[in-house]
Amino acid sequence: MEIVIKTLEYLDNLRLYPKIKTVSSPPKPVVRIDGRNLHMFCSNNYLNLATHPRVIKSNVEGTKNFGTGAGGSRLISGSTDLHKELEKVISELKNCEDSLVFSSGYLANLGVISAMAAPARSVAKELTMNMLYSLKNETVIFNDELNHASIIDACKIANVAHIRYKHVDMNDLREKLKKNRNKRKIIISDGVFSMDGNIAPLPEIVALAEEFQAITIIDDAHATGILGENGRGTAEYFNLKGKVDLEMGTLNKVFAGVGGFVSGNTDLCRFLRVASRSYIFSAAMPPGVASGLITAIKIFREEPGLRNRLLKNVEYFQSGLKKIGIHVKYYPTPIIPIIIGDESIAMSIAEELFKKGFFIPAIRWPAVPKGKARLRITVMTEHTTEQIDGLITELEELLEKYGVKNNPVHLKTLITHNV
Ligand SMILES: Cc1ncc(COP(=O)(O)O)c(C=O)c1O
Repeated sequence: MEIVIKTLEYLDNLRLYPKIKTVSSPPKPVVRIDGRNLHMFCSNNYLNLATHPRVIKSNVEGTKNFGTGAGGSRLISGSTDLHKELEKVISELKNCEDSLVFSSGYLANLGVISAMAAPARSVAKELTMNMLYSLKNETVIFNDELNHASIIDACKIANVAHIRYKHVDMNDLREKLKKNRNKRKIIISDGVFSMDGNIAPLPEIVALAEEFQAITIIDDAHATGILGENGRGTAEYFNLKGKVDLEMGTLNKVFAGVGGFVSGNTDLCRFLRVASRSYIFSAAMPPGVASGLITAIKIFREEPGLRNRLLKNVEYFQSGLKKIGIHVKYYPTPIIPIIIGDESIAMSIAEELFKKGFFIPAIRWPAVPKGKARLRITVMTEHTTEQIDGLITELEELLEKYGVKNNPVHLKTLITHNV
């Protein structure tokens, strides 16, 4: 127990223990918290589909027709018509042969990565015992150091060697691949980095994977529905569809439900259905959620204006930042971080913003490295220019007040992201 108390004291002293705000309304551009209306600039409901009347209707109908819970895991009794339909709709969106839906993106990464890293572990052990041991010793996972926590946790569960390469540093990745030339290799990267909004250098990753014969897995949690002509994600953005082995995504951001998925070729998906433990040993997502997601993806495909308006808002916000002297490299993604550095200052700025009516919690260690605390601002389709102008005005005043305008940590971080 002592370590628990000491941990809590440590976090409290450094103001790192989160004060979680309770939201009393849907994730729209204005939300209700503690009886006040606040401008919401931290939601991943990027296209505002969570409150789209057709998505809500579909979610309710799915619940009426199939009940509130799936009543089992995918392999036993939880695979309804809606789950199958959702997988089909996702495969069409991603233009892949097949897809698997998990109950969250976190579970998708755990299941997919651990299955791909040690494929024999979950299946027919007695037939593949020798193969299992050789793979355990020989598989090496190469991770961008800023990959999402779910990928890092998946690597731990996979129980194979995993090596972190410097963020988007392809020379470092090359060196590390070279040193492991004779191993079985898997390269994993976020497509869009969740705390930074920058895009992985996929052309170089794919080229290195081809040169060193590595498997590639891209986490498109923040890229699906955002990047590429048809919103297919990072591979489409770089014109590399078909060159990535597995494309993972989540269903709680652009598509405004909950769940995760992986898309790939028929053999890989067939394999993952029997080898991903988080797919096998966890309940299927509620059917109503699956139903709402099917409709959200359809709306996304029918109404490209939703994404165009989002990207216009991203550009508008970034040009506003430039006007007040905050240099942010433009990426066509809704995540715009302002790196503050010091955790305590970031907390103070977030608190002042809250008082002034803007909801943007400070993101700090362990979600981001120590000394790189930030305001992770996210823009939505339905934000108005007045809301964005209002935030820019407040930011100008607060960043000046706390002496962090164009601070070295912010600029250095941007330079590293200059891919
Ligand atoms: C890059 C990335 N991967 C995976 C996940 C996990 O997805 P989920 O929230 O659906 O569990 C997230 C969630 O924020 C993410 O940002």
